[in-house]
Order: sequence, then structure tokens, then C-alpha cells
Amino acid sequence: MFTDTHCHLYKEYYDDLDSIIYKIKKAQINRVINNGCDNLSNIEVLGNIKKYDFMYGAIGIHPDSADTYSESDLAYIKNHLNDDKVVAIGEIGLDYYWRKDNKDKQIELFEKQLSLAEEFDKPIIVHSRDATLDTIEILKKYKVRGVIHSFSGSYETACIYIKMGFLLGINGVITFKNCNLKDVIGKIDLSNIVLETDSPYLTPVPYRGQRNDSSHIFDIAKFICEIKNVSLDELSKETNANIKRCFDI
Ligand code: NI
Repeated sequence: MFTDTHCHLYKEYYDDLDSIIYKIKKAQINRVINNGCDNLSNIEVLGNIKKYDFMYGAIGIHPDSADTYSESDLAYIKNHLNDDKVVAIGEIGLDYYWRKDNKDKQIELFEKQLSLAEEFDKPIIVHSRDATLDTIEILKKYKVRGVIHSFSGSYETACIYIKMGFLLGINGVITFKNCNLKDVIGKIDLSNIVLETDSPYLTPVPYRGQRNDSSHIFDIAKFICEIKNVSLDELSKETNANIKRCFDI
């Protein structure tokens, strides 16, 4: 039994959500954490976690929306953090790959949500792209825990995040050719990782080019089992224990 700790299962990407959910459940994925990115998707996530029993929610504003979000979008998050099945604030963070010109705004948005995480004692799900140094410096200022989503950094960076108490979210990127993540995962303990798909993005090998969904957790899991020389059962036990520790589910 595996949990997809990071996916974006909403209408913008899936006009056939009910059939995708059926496919995921049939593939024996027992839980998914659906991550919002902006006000519209946050509203949808809250609706869907009521509809689908195996779905949990993370609500937050992605750095992509640093220029367009409003204070009422943040108030909406605050008002729903104690809702049933809302397990985290996410997806939040910094993205200097797409935008370097609005770093100040991205940092301001990130810090506002980190304050909320502190206030409500909620884990966070962090997006950090080409922004490792700033992400680490900012996270150090807050008493927060959570997942560094789509981790693909160096062993040294992995060690820093682990020491800070974060879990590393590993997805289909590990199956890509010439990816140094295999070596990093080889060196770190399974108590530090959780599995995710980032659906509909980052489809693992050999399904590149197709739309991703949470059932592909198994393709990622098998890959990691081979690197770590453990069974699927052991990997599922370890990662579910990490999820329990972090999200209390
Ligand atoms: Ni994502």
C-alpha cells in the first residue's frame, strides 16, 4: 500500500477525474495528498477531499502566483487549515527557474505561509527550484516541518534538509537517465523519504510523454527498491511511517 504525497488531481489537468480516481484506487494506491496551487485549485481540493475518501488535501499558493494572489486567498487558506483531512500547507516555496525578477514577492508570499504553518502547527510541502540557498536560509527562520517536494539536489543539500528535520519527496525524476538522484538515494536512509508523482507532470520512465497519475507510484517505488535492495513491502512500511510522523495520517 503506497501513498502519493504530491499530486495535482483537478479539473485543469483531468477532465475525467472520476475514472482517474478509479484507476488509482485499482492500482492499490491507498492514499493521495492533493496539492493546491492557487485559490481556484485550493477550493477544488477542499471539495474533492470531501468527495473521495482516500484523498487528503494540502492548500497553499505556489510561487508562480506571487504576482497575482490576493490577501483574501491567504485568508481562505487560514480559514480552512483546521478542516477535516487538510494535512498541510502546500504547494509553497520559491521558483527562480521561471522567474528571477520577482524574488522579493516570492519570498514575501513564502514567509506569510510559513508564519501560518507555525501558527497552526501544520507541515509544509515545499517547491524549490534553482533557489536552494534562499529556501534553506528562509526555512531556518521558522519552526516548521514537512516535505521538500521533488527533491533532486546533491547529497550535501539532502543532508542539510534532513538535519533540519525535512523529508525528501522523490518522484519520477529518479527514473530519468543521467540523474544523480540515484546516488543520493543510495546514500541516505529510507526514514528520510516519501514517494510522490507530481501528477500530471514528471511521468516516470518508460511512460514519458504520457500524462502522469498516482498509479505510477509503483514505477517509482520499484526503482527505489532496486537501488536500496529492499522489498516493496519494506519500502511501503518505511515511507508510510514517515508520512505518519510528518502528517499524522
Ligand atoms: Ni507540484
